[in-house]
Amino acid sequence: MIRARITGTGSYAPEKVLTNSDIEKFIDTSDEWIRTRTGICERHIAADNENTSDLSTKAAQRALEMASVKAEELDYIVVGTITGDYPWPATACIVQDNLGAKNAGAFDVSAACSGFLFALSCAVDRIESGRSKKALVIGAEVLSRIIDWEDRNTCVLFGDAAGAVVLEAQEGDSGVLSTHLRSDGSQLELLYQPGFGTRVLPTEENLVNKANTLKMQGNEVFKVAVRSMSDIAKVALEANEFSVDDVNLFIPHQANIRILDATAKRIGLRDDQCYINVDRFGNTSGATIPLALDEANRAGRIKQGDILLLDAFGGGFTWAAALVRW
Ligand code: ACO
Repeated sequence: MIRARITGTGSYAPEKVLTNSDIEKFIDTSDEWIRTRTGICERHIAADNENTSDLSTKAAQRALEMASVKAEELDYIVVGTITGDYPWPATACIVQDNLGAKNAGAFDVSAACSGFLFALSCAVDRIESGRSKKALVIGAEVLSRIIDWEDRNTCVLFGDAAGAVVLEAQEGDSGVLSTHLRSDGSQLELLYQPGFGTRVLPTEENLVNKANTLKMQGNEVFKVAVRSMSDIAKVALEANEFSVDDVNLFIPHQANIRILDATAKRIGLRDDQCYINVDRFGNTSGATIPLALDEANRAGRIKQGDILLLDAFGGGFTWAAALVRW
């Protein structure tokens, strides 16, 4: 059987670090509140001249280098993002040009914090069908541009980053074993950016009301996120006839530590099976999973044959899981 094997990982976070103490200086919050409620200590913020395509390109170059794959060899590029450089065209097209990936079709996937896993599933299906040999999947966000920096309920949670994987068609047991996707659009206003698509236009009133910034009802999102992420993780394990003990590393979407702890507990995972870096990056939406995967990989936390469980939840709502044999 042809499988999509991850042969390279890469990530990039902007140089500028914004600590909780820095945020204390411009909003009514405290380091103690942020740490205890979210587990976040600091996050990276893009420079004024850095865009999602720039972060993506750097992460992609690192992944390509690790995989020893040249950009021209890529036939498929998918970027999971909700903060593309432009409403359209796709950020993936800018990345394609930056890399010189002249033989690749490139497009974006909009699935918020689940964006990387939705993008991954597109590439995996394409590879397993025999239509792609080498694909690049990226999760990248510059969320700092759609945050209301005067809203303490949301601004402390998010950061900017990108992560990428190179997938290659290979025979054998290693690779992405399965992907599982779900959505529920009935509660989209619990977590969304109202403007500016075709529904909410950039009128003076909407600009004053900051309709182009992220809106969230945190308590409600919390409950649905924990239930959805744990349910879909169990679906992935059952589909492959694995138990929780078979999982060597659980890499969840890094929303905040309380969501992660509650989700891991509900799945039945031990602390030592979970990879956590939300303390240093905050919630980088579509970027969290490939960023954590790259960190874990480069730190030697993943060995050949290891079983990885990837798990995400985000706006839409969307949620997804993937099982990978390394
Ligand atoms: N600093 C100080 N106080 C704050 C802050 C802040 N940054 N933010 C909110 N508060 C206050 C609130 O105003 C409220 O005060 P009040 O009681 O006087 O009204 C109080 O803290 C409690 O607010 P809650 O919203 O009940 O706080 P909660 O314990 O639920 O924590 C949080 C809020 C962290 C957002 C939580 O709901 C949560 O983790 N939600 C999940 C949402 C999330 O992480 N979303 C990310 C996107 S979705 C995803 O990625 C899966």
